[in-house]
Parts: sequence; C-alpha cells; structure tokens
Amino acid sequence: MPTVLAIETSCDETAVAIVKNREVKSSIISSQIPVHLQYGGVVPEVASRAHLEIINSSITQALEQAQLNWNQIDGVAATCAPGLVGALLVGMTAGKTLAVVHEKPFLGVHHLEGHIYATYLSEPTLEPPFLSLLVSGGHTSLIHVQKCGVYKTLGETRDDAAGEAFDKVARLLKLGYPGGPAIDRISSQGNPKAFVFPEGRVSLPSGGYHPYDASFSGLKTAVLRLVQQIDNTGGKLPVADIAASFQATVASALTKRAVKCALDHELHTIAVGGGVAANSALRAALQTACAENNLKVLFPPLKYCTDNAAMIGCAASEHLAAGHTSKLDLGVQSRLALTEVMKLY
Ligand code: KG4
Ligand code: ZN
Repeated sequence: MPTVLAIETSCDETAVAIVKNREVKSSIISSQIPVHLQYGGVVPEVASRAHLEIINSSITQALEQAQLNWNQIDGVAATCAPGLVGALLVGMTAGKTLAVVHEKPFLGVHHLEGHIYATYLSEPTLEPPFLSLLVSGGHTSLIHVQKCGVYKTLGETRDDAAGEAFDKVARLLKLGYPGGPAIDRISSQGNPKAFVFPEGRVSLPSGGYHPYDASFSGLKTAVLRLVQQIDNTGGKLPVADIAASFQATVASALTKRAVKCALDHELHTIAVGGGVAANSALRAALQTACAENNLKVLFPPLKYCTDNAAMIGCAASEHLAAGHTSKLDLGVQSRLALTEVMKLY
C-alpha cells in the first residue's frame, strides 16, 4: 500500500500526517482554538491566515517525526471539500505544490470520507459494508459504507448538525468554544434526567416520522427558552443539569436512529466518526444499545475523532492503491455530497 503525506485545513485545525494504509507514521495537529477563543467561534479569514503561518513547519515536522524523506512518499493528499474555502485553499495549494515539486501523484480528499476512515486507523480488519454515524460540527449523517468511494446517505439532520447544537447550547450556557468538550465535561456533574427536552423527530408528508433523520434546532430552542425562563425569574442557572440533560437527549436521538438504521439494513457494525464521536454520553448510549441488539460499535481513538490529517491520509492511501488520482486543476468546494466523492478522481 502507498505511503501518503496528507494535509487537512478545512476548518480550525492545521494538520499534516504521513500514513501507509492504516498505519500512522506521523501526525501533527495544531489547533487554532486559542486564536478563535476571543471571538467565540471560528472566524474564516483568521483561520486561513493561521493555516498559512504554520503549514510549512507542520509539513517539515511530519516528515521529521516519521523519519522519512520524499523518496519514500508515494503521493500527496489534501482535503478539498467540504469546509471553509479560504482554509481549504491553503492546504490544497501546499499539497499540489509539493506534488509538482516532488513529482508525486496528487489526491483531493473529501473531509467526511476522512472521518469514516478514522475508524480504520485502529481497526486493521474492518471492511465494508458497515454503517457510519458521522457526527461533526458541520454534519450529522448515517452513511451506508459500501466500498472505497461508494457511499449512500440513509439519514441526516434537517437543520443543525450535532456538533453545531453542542456549540450553540454551550454559548447559551456561557461555557465557551468549542462547546462539545465543555458540555461533556460539565455534564459529569449534572443530572441527565433533570430536564426533559424534545428529541426532534422529522415528520413525513405522508404521516408518521422519518426513521433516521434528525432535527436539533427545536432542542436548541427548548434549551434557550428554559434559560430565558430561569433568567427572567432571577434564579441561578443549573448549568450542569441543563448540559447533562441536553447531552443525554442528543445521545439518545442519535443512538435510536443509528441502531434502527443498522438493523433495518442488516449492517452489523456501526462506526462512529467526527468530533461528537468523542462525546462520553453518546459512546455510553451506543455501547449499551448495540450490546442489546447484537451490533458491533466502533469509535476512533479520541485524537482521531476531531479533525486530523491521519484520517485523510488513510482514505488517500486506499484511493491511490486503487489507481485514483486527482487532476491538478481540482478546486476546493465549501459543500460536496459524500455520494460525489468519485468525481474528485
Ligand atoms: O469533526 P470536527 O473536529 O470538525 C468538523 O468537521 O466539524 O468536529 C468538531 C465538533 C465541534 O462542534 C465540537 O464542539 C464537537 O465536534 N465536539 C464534541 C466533543 N468534542 C468535540 N461534541 C460533544 N462532545 C465532545 N466531547
Ligand atoms: Zn471534521
């Protein structure tokens, strides 16, 4: 299998990794959290500038950590979609330039395909078909993984992504950015049954509810109303209880849908990916429900749940082995469906 140097700059992490198939030779991740903290969220222009400042040293560090030189690298990959356009451009320009200078094939990689491949990094024997539950800051999807590059979306969110809901609720509770880890931390001191929030079912025009789609905007509004109500009465906000109840509601909504989807499609493994895969309540709920239903559930190690380049390199290594390469005029795209992945090659 080929060894690939991969770059990920789709949002607020500057990451470079060297990966051979499922083996990580090096992984450098520089978070921009301190840069964006003062704004309470990611500022796209600031993110692009921060990527630019650190990309070259990250590439050098990745090569040094892996103790490899360019003769031992078979290809260069960079995330090309979806993400912040300016941020993506930094990684793509660096990747294409390295590919040209060192005469290596270049591959643009879909960020969400990377999150699916994160599970492979700790599961050397995992093979499709399986169900992927992708839960990140920008996406919430149930994907039938059929083979490398072939994906079918079985369920998604109709509004906010799971991570986005965590970030917005954390802002309401004044817990700072990024919200997911902050809510996860404070929830351990709260009662997850203190408040009952709506799980956000998606009704169908023909009646009934969509079995796999989710909606988190109603849940977020319910938390907002509760916070306003308590504020208006001058009471002290029970932050830990609200956080724990919100987190339990998200975990339950995602778990129910993922388990039903896996059972209905006779998929015996659920692989969870994306930043929210780090959430302790979601992990616990899925582990319990999967054990009860004779399903296997897999989570990437925490460092590969949130954005990293090792997952991008893992996907690229398999695409390159299959003979897939991108043209150098491939552009970046803020949005791109996972079902369109093969258009990149
Ligand atoms: O996958 P990711 O790093 O970036 C995107 O592709 O969006 O996901 C970031 C999201 C953020 O919304 C963050 O709040 C959330 O993942 N997140 C968590 C946890 N760690 C990160 N959400 C819940 N619990 C966590 N422990
Ligand atoms: Zn991501």
